[in-house]
Amino acid sequence: MVLPPPGYFDVSGPLPSGLAVASRLVAFLPAMPHPREVSSKARASLRYDVSMASIDDFVAGLSAIPERDFTVPGVARFLADNPVDPASLEKYLFYEATHYTRNLIHKSDLFELLAVCWESGQSSPVHNHQGQHCWMAVPIGRLAVQNYDLVRADEQGFCELRLAERLVMDPGHPAFVDPEEPIHAVLNLAEYGRRATSLHVYSRPYDRCVVYAPERNAYWEVPLFYDSEHGRRTARTLSASGGSAPESSARR
Ligand SMILES: [Fe+2]
Repeated sequence: MVLPPPGYFDVSGPLPSGLAVASRLVAFLPAMPHPREVSSKARASLRYDVSMASIDDFVAGLSAIPERDFTVPGVARFLADNPVDPASLEKYLFYEATHYTRNLIHKSDLFELLAVCWESGQSSPVHNHQGQHCWMAVPIGRLAVQNYDLVRADEQGFCELRLAERLVMDPGHPAFVDPEEPIHAVLNLAEYGRRATSLHVYSRPYDRCVVYAPERNAYWEVPLFYDSEHGRRTARTLSASGGSAPESSARR
């Protein structure tokens, strides 16, 4: 794996700006100056200049967006404008040594909101989102996103992927998935040295996704499940805890 250099983006290439979708998963319109553009002292002070929303206010705000406005740029703007206070997430945080966890915060016909908890070194499979839109924010820690190009695939589970660009999400830099190029993996790299929690908005909610094993030129569909719902662990998680997540498990 190519490890990222210090700084915001892990790859060379232009910094996305404005609402333009460059390709695949794109960091969205930073609400504050790029970290490389400010001194550490200035960067620290910026943290205090950004007012944060509680997760309850965040849910209420998302729920107030009319369906016609629940667009890729519209929701991306909402995430950029409403960083979430980590203290308000406490009841949704379930970290596991064996796997990252998916924790349902809110679900409606239009969208679902999850908190995904990552111990240091944990990562998702390479996956897509079954044609649904996805937006992500990282209130706690930082996460790398590795994008992939689909070179070719057949209907029998064969695929060939090619590594594409990598970027980093942190509290000042949410991101969204380009529906045209949706294949990616999320990684809490060991070199970051700490836990991370990401918020994922999916529209519409969905309960299956496709995972890819690039090293074996294979893909397949898996069901998805929650490790907790509304702050309470699910029965499945309680009974299944203790084993490392198999590649075919329903995580992304
Ligand atoms: Fe994803």
